[in-house]
Amino acid sequence: MSVEIRKLSVENVEALIEVARESWKWTYEGIYSDEYIENWIREKYSKEKLLNEITRSWSEPDLLFLGAFVDLKLAGFIEVKIKEDNAELLRLYLKPEYTHRKIGRDLLSEAEKIMKEKVVSECTLYVHSQNHVGISFYYKNGFTVKGIDGSDFLMIKKYE
Ligand code: ACO
Repeated sequence: MSVEIRKLSVENVEALIEVARESWKWTYEGIYSDEYIENWIREKYSKEKLLNEITRSWSEPDLLFLGAFVDLKLAGFIEVKIKEDNAELLRLYLKPEYTHRKIGRDLLSEAEKIMKEKVVSECTLYVHSQNHVGISFYYKNGFTVKGIDGSDFLMIKKYE
């Protein structure tokens, strides 16, 4: 299995929507209804929005949008927004069959490498309080819970 982490390009948009849809269905099964998930994907992962974000990630250094490609196929992605010395991990999703193979860790490490180059001192994220896979992954990668915001945990990691 060869894994390559690189910036997403506009040609990846259809695959990106498919990864997001599959990952959302798996992650939020029993948390959100199928209808809620479909609406979310249609709205937040619309082709138009994603093309815009991918394009911005090439021109604006404060937006990281990376894909993990396994044997050349998109398996997952990470999106991070940097604001001065703070970053927010907006999205990190893998296709279910690619979870538990350290691909998420590799995506996070690559994003953190770039964040450190940009002298980011802390990274925050929101994760659903019932998303046990996500929460345990973030704990194992150095994040701690800083607070609760509705149904989400706010997690934080500080960098030297
Ligand atoms: N089942 C149960 N736990 C899992 C699984 C799985 N299939 N995959 C990962 N984990 C957890 C375990 O705690 C694991 O530790 P262990 O190896 O000691 O059991 C830990 O994550 C580390 O595993 P990795 O292989 O490094 O993680 P992975 O490559 O799977 O990436 C990620 C983690 C991104 C959370 C991935 O599992 C995924 O896409 N999950 C579904 C989507 C999701 O929850 N994303 C986070 C949403 S919050 C946000 O985007 C800000």
